[in-house]
Amino acid sequence: MTQGAQGAEKSAALHSALRAWYEHARRDLPWRRGHDPYAIWLSEVMLQQTRVETVIPYYNRFLQEFPTVMALAEAPLDRVLEHWSGLGYYRRARMLHEGARVIAARGVFPKEVAELRQVPGIGPYTAGAVASIAFGQRAALVDGNVARVLARLFALDHDIRGGAGLARVWKLAEALVAEDDPGAWNQALMELGSTVCTVRDPRCLLCPVASLCEAKARGVEKHLPILSPKPRPRGVREVALVASSGDAVLLARRCPNGLFGGLWEPPLLEMETDLEEARQAAVVLASAFGVELTSIEDRGTITHTLSHRRMRVEVMWGQTESLGELRCGLSIYDKAERVPWTELSGRGRSSLASKILGALPRQTGYSRGPSVS
Ligand code: ADE
Repeated sequence: MTQGAQGAEKSAALHSALRAWYEHARRDLPWRRGHDPYAIWLSEVMLQQTRVETVIPYYNRFLQEFPTVMALAEAPLDRVLEHWSGLGYYRRARMLHEGARVIAARGVFPKEVAELRQVPGIGPYTAGAVASIAFGQRAALVDGNVARVLARLFALDHDIRGGAGLARVWKLAEALVAEDDPGAWNQALMELGSTVCTVRDPRCLLCPVASLCEAKARGVEKHLPILSPKPRPRGVREVALVASSGDAVLLARRCPNGLFGGLWEPPLLEMETDLEEARQAAVVLASAFGVELTSIEDRGTITHTLSHRRMRVEVMWGQTESLGELRCGLSIYDKAERVPWTELSGRGRSSLASKILGALPRQTGYSRGPSVS
């Protein structure tokens, strides 16, 4: 048999085994119950970097609050971030909002990959997902799960984190994508990757395509895919000042385009020196916001890890007589406000901000609410 005929045969066998498996093994997830492109787009954005179980409640609440692309486009960014609070990677929310405005202004939801790619925040993966799942277009997609499944099925022995290795994975995904219900095919590949062909200890005994897997045939399934290591997150030390006066606290809003853009938090200052300086840093922070502290208490250290930085934050709790005349004297913030404790839940804030506030004594009036990662 020629190589081409062999390839076609493997592709046909993969399709029939994987599609049959997906029909009965697929999880019943809220975004799989319809074809609304906006809802599918939202789910795909939330699912990047975040686990299914974490996403479900956020997804449901978000759609309740912003049921259409128009509703999202018309909402202020602050409200959008409030509904994203705790989900992390806030740039996703800002881009989703910007993308919704572009789509609302056009008046129609784009269908084709090339048109979808014109929307801010929609990259090749999301374009492939929306085009195939919502519109039934024959569009491929590659995420971490698909890349791992294909790297094993075809025993790819190149680094697939980027460059030529990743390009090869995309080529395979494009060659394999089904004519008939490409959305189901793409989701079957992703489902296999997240439930069976897992990163560590793939469950080959349960795999519907194990007999077609080149890595399994060679006994190298646990060694693939080859992924170059990610850079380690940089360690940074910061001081947070929670300045409170009676029933309110000082919160500052991060500038739109940087880390935690658009989110509210007790102001933070990066420290290059030792933590003995934390008290002094708290005074510097207070004066940057026009606040005079009457007392300062060290509430200990919290840690918070993002993909690119590992933060150790010394939490300083300062009392002040008034939060009346605030300035905003730090360049990473664009706004500062006195926020009553009872109104904190209405402010979009990161998990880091929640951890900082959680380091205060119980009687401050800060309600911890459900814990978020
Ligand atoms: N991961 C991200 N999107 C997914 C989808 N639609 N189905 C399965 N896994 C996914």
